[in-house]
Amino acid sequence: MNNTRKGFVPRETIDEIRSRSDIVEIISECGIALRPAGRDYKALCPFHDEKTPSFTVSVQKQIFYCFGCQTGGNVISFVQKHEGKDFRETLEWLADRLNIALPNQGVREGANRKRFATLEDLNRFAVEYYHRQLLTERVGGQARQYLKHRGVQSKTLRSFQLGYAKAGRRDFVKVATDKGFTVQQLVDAGLIKDEDRGPQDRFWNRILFPIQNERGVPVGFGGRSLSEEHQPKYLNSPATVLYDKSNILYNLDKARQSIYKKQQVLLVEGYMDVLMLSQSGIENVVASSGTSLSENHANLLKRFAPEVVIVYDGDASGFQAAQRGLDRLLAEGLRVRIALLPTGEDPDSFARQHGAAAFTELTDKAINLIEFQIQAAIQQQDIHRVDVKAQVVKELTQTLLSVNNRMERNEYVKYASRELRVEETALWQALRDAGLKETSTPRQMRRVRNAAEKLTPRAQIERQLIEALIQSPSLIPHIKLQFDYQSFTEPSFVKVAQLLWEACTDDQNVDIQTLINECPDEKLSALISSMLLQKTPPPNLQLRAEGCLKKLKHFLLQDLEQRVRSHALAEGADERETLKELVQLSNQRRALRDRDAVDNRSDSPSEGGN
Ligand code: UTP
Ligand code: MN
Repeated sequence: MNNTRKGFVPRETIDEIRSRSDIVEIISECGIALRPAGRDYKALCPFHDEKTPSFTVSVQKQIFYCFGCQTGGNVISFVQKHEGKDFRETLEWLADRLNIALPNQGVREGANRKRFATLEDLNRFAVEYYHRQLLTERVGGQARQYLKHRGVQSKTLRSFQLGYAKAGRRDFVKVATDKGFTVQQLVDAGLIKDEDRGPQDRFWNRILFPIQNERGVPVGFGGRSLSEEHQPKYLNSPATVLYDKSNILYNLDKARQSIYKKQQVLLVEGYMDVLMLSQSGIENVVASSGTSLSENHANLLKRFAPEVVIVYDGDASGFQAAQRGLDRLLAEGLRVRIALLPTGEDPDSFARQHGAAAFTELTDKAINLIEFQIQAAIQQQDIHRVDVKAQVVKELTQTLLSVNNRMERNEYVKYASRELRVEETALWQALRDAGLKETSTPRQMRRVRNAAEKLTPRAQIERQLIEALIQSPSLIPHIKLQFDYQSFTEPSFVKVAQLLWEACTDDQNVDIQTLINECPDEKLSALISSMLLQKTPPPNLQLRAEGCLKKLKHFLLQDLEQRVRSHALAEGADERETLKELVQLSNQRRALRDRDAVDNRSDSPSEGGN
């Protein structure tokens, strides 16, 4: 967060944005299916792969935390992480939803934002304008007829906000400039061209498919011609400030909920495929719209589901298109399966002819990418010939290298060995030759990490103390006076304590939510969130904190004794002095313990920890 460059947002505004943005609402809006669990909500964690939900959202505390991958924070941290935004962008996004105006931004940033905002406005205006044209019988009649003929129902046409651009060449130029947009803005949005003959509409006599980013902001159009003669069949918006093809998937905004629920995304080629599948009730569909898949696409999809089913046209070009870019999906850790359509069909025609159930049957039967490649190789070539087999193994090796999950890779190697009649060892050798490095599996690594995280009894008490302070920040001033944050032994607790101690000033209580926002380190804010989320705080946090404090002081005195002793040993110090010091220390320690014994009858920190 760089305040000077990005424009400063006062803490009160951040507080307002945060407190008015309900975490459950926002997380749901981001496509995550939360289910009530007691007073909290649970879901499959969007930040790591899991089968049983350990992602927890507390309504009461407005905090999320995943017990599986230890990711956590408040509503702002969630949006930052899930939507891949920085702090400032997140505030803007949330503020926008609430109609809160952020104070003036830095000059350049402000100008850029404004440009963005007007382009968005312009695109919204264009979507509405073209949509109205399609709905106006006199203008859009022919286009409507065409859509009807292709089986597009009126409700689909409305929900996808399809549009129609008239046959004229200066229609939109006029309407939009009358509305106050400049020619330059229209050019910037890719809606018109301004060349030798003056400003002219990019789209004319075409049906328009508005393209939205994953948040539903219109960024461009795909325009279909109404006749064979009018080429190209589809004309798309050029790249603009808002529209970068490498990170847009058509329909992701509408499909994201369904993709998340089904844990699977269907990837098709065309606008019409999406429309017709969606109309028949299959909603987890996005289209690559003729562009090849990028790493951005893969990352975008990975946020919502672990598996992609490719449903491309059953012709040669569909076949080839399917192969391109798929290794990239694998490399990003997605599972990839391929559904094969009968030759000459695309998802649109298939769904129309055979219905949704038949389509689902087809996608259920989709085979994984490796099987697909092996089958394709076997079918296309004379696989018995040694040189052909060697070539196939070589190609396959590249794909197998992209498979990150070791267990899956093992399975594929077994399968390939069976189908191709090649020794498994030969395949493994080929993989190593191609650069495969065996690493420990994620599960093993997790085990190692957990072992390292196991706390010493002393650190468990430290944790209890900090937990008590986070759950009841009014205790901080009192504890701070008696305990130096550097006296914690666990490094992450030192850091949290330092934050707490520093946030604690004379005039106000520490606000934990603000602390989470201002926390310099994601791991720390997750730790704070997890502590805030602890299930059942003991009835009297103050007594617990005092109890912990005493035990920790006891440890400190032990440290001190230890140090005095070893110092004496090392330096050959005056024995009488050392002895005196040690006696004093041990008296202090005893005094502490005796007081402990009295107090502990009412409440004592449990040593087991949690
Ligand atoms: P297709 O040629 O398979 O078209 O192109 P389609 O989706 O089946 O469309 P209909 O059914 O004929 O109306 C697949 C996708 O490739 C992109 C478009 O996104 C299209 O939906 N494409 C195709 C273009 O961008 N330009 C073209 O000229 C053709
Ligand atoms: Mn088609």
